[in-house]
Amino acid sequence: MCGIVGILGASPVAPLIVDALKRLEYRGYDSAGVATLEDGRLTRRRAEGKLRNLEAKLAEAPLKGHAGIGHTRWATHGRPTERNAHPHATERLAVVHNGIIENFRELRQKLEAEGAIFETETDTEVVARLVDRELARNADPETAISLVLPQLRGAFALAFLFDGEDDLLIGARQGAPLAVGYGDGEMYLGSDALALAPFTDTITYLEDGDWVVLSRKGASFRDAANRTVKRKRQKSAAGAFLVDRGEYRHFMAKEIHEQPEVVGRTLAHYLDMATGQIRLPFEAKFDWAKLERLTISACGTAYYAGLVAKYWFERYARLPVDIDVASEFRYREAPMARNGLALFISQSGETADTLAGLRYAREQGQHVLAVVNVPTSSIARESDVVAPTLAGPEIGVASTKAFTCQLTVLACLAIAAGLARGALSAAEGEALASELIAVPGLLAEALKSEDRIQELARDISRVSDVLYIGRGTSFAMALEGALKLKEISYIHAEAYAAGELKHGPIALIDETMPVIVIAPRDGLFEKTVSNMQEVAARGGRIVMISDRETVGEAGVDDLRAIEMPRMAPNFAPIVYAVPVQLLAYHTAVVLGQDVDQPRNLAKSVTVE
Ligand code: F6R
Repeated sequence: MCGIVGILGASPVAPLIVDALKRLEYRGYDSAGVATLEDGRLTRRRAEGKLRNLEAKLAEAPLKGHAGIGHTRWATHGRPTERNAHPHATERLAVVHNGIIENFRELRQKLEAEGAIFETETDTEVVARLVDRELARNADPETAISLVLPQLRGAFALAFLFDGEDDLLIGARQGAPLAVGYGDGEMYLGSDALALAPFTDTITYLEDGDWVVLSRKGASFRDAANRTVKRKRQKSAAGAFLVDRGEYRHFMAKEIHEQPEVVGRTLAHYLDMATGQIRLPFEAKFDWAKLERLTISACGTAYYAGLVAKYWFERYARLPVDIDVASEFRYREAPMARNGLALFISQSGETADTLAGLRYAREQGQHVLAVVNVPTSSIARESDVVAPTLAGPEIGVASTKAFTCQLTVLACLAIAAGLARGALSAAEGEALASELIAVPGLLAEALKSEDRIQELARDISRVSDVLYIGRGTSFAMALEGALKLKEISYIHAEAYAAGELKHGPIALIDETMPVIVIAPRDGLFEKTVSNMQEVAARGGRIVMISDRETVGEAGVDDLRAIEMPRMAPNFAPIVYAVPVQLLAYHTAVVLGQDVDQPRNLAKSVTVE
């Protein structure tokens, strides 16, 4: 994840920016840069690799400006070279950026058609050129930014510095965090409170869609509709803790909100965002085309990620899949295919049952592939090949961002397998990849349903049982929803494949029973609607999760909806994870439960 720092100071800011960037090193990066105003003129220093390389350049040719922006870049679009390092600049402005500009290709083509010449492979340069175009037409910096932001799609944070403007920084947030820090006659911008901790403990987090204009006197906030808004200042505890809850009450909330960013980052590790080609970051020691069978094994939420992936591998790669919870798999003594791949999924990489399953699969001569979040873990070390999820440390016991990152990796693996096995044409692979590229932006959209979910959570908090239903990959999401709710709110919840309802569970339905229906617009939607009608006919209280148009088409009276963005259905599980997580979270908060450390649970389950 990239790091952003901006300072309007009273002394040379480059050394301060580099120090702040050091505090963001934990996010991972592969190049870095700083821009300041030298006698009013934009000047940059950038370097490939670690911050010490940038420091060496700054020692040779110091920057003296009192206004500046800096960045650590974790490459997404274009290689980690000095040329692609941020800040990106034109004569009129410099910009640093975290996240993904999803529609950069079409914007770039438009600008090139108007004669713009691009120097880098990055999506960020598109932003620089768009703002530059407005400034060249005599717009002032604020107007230029207000004209450009609505053109950008995706999940990102931005910070701008302008030539000749020594008392101006502009920041923008859409789906990736950004905070303003208040000093004494100085002002700061940072991608998290940790970066700002050496300067100030008074900060304001931008809300999604906000942008902010900073001068040394203070900050003026605008919302997505360009209205001036007030945003509250708060005290940050980042100085005291390495891992900070930031603007959130719980780690779980923070981790839910980090998903646009970490899913984008994970995606960029598996997909060339510029060309839309899948590019696995490891050398597969097996031939996808020759595999007879895939065996997936994991526990809890990681198992549900595997269950979604079963549908994807079978559909896109025509690869038969067996899946078990690891505690069953390890004792099942399953005969395994001669040329088989065993896939283990684990956030911690230490789960005892999953590790034991891995060892069994190895004894059975399987190729062993692991999707893990902790690269130094036992499961990672004992696998032939590791496919990392780049979710960053997950502190809340209930898994959220690790889950969506697991799904992201598994989607990329399924597409890669499909291409290698000839089950997908190159064009089909690219179409799927471009659906994936839209996911971080859709996650940011999905998070906007939080207020509505908070309302519904008050109702859910009053019942003792909840049913979740869905079909296909949405069945797996129903299971995940039920697990999330019971583990943190302690309300009993069960999930069923929607078609199974009439084979027994429908007996439970009465007017006290909430039924959460996960129903993205996909090929199974109409079947799910029939099951929903069966619930409605028996007085069940339906909460439907789908996009607005689809909810309208369901034709069920008395239905409460959680609206998701309209999207192609293939990777809906990644986006639909957000409402099930938020519903569980807010229900637990209403009930006053210990959200981050629910009773009886541990983050890393190293016993059977
Ligand atoms: C649920 C949850 C657990 C874990 C499970 C596996 O929210 O977090 O169900 O998913 O204990 O843990 P890992 O992924 O570390 O193997």
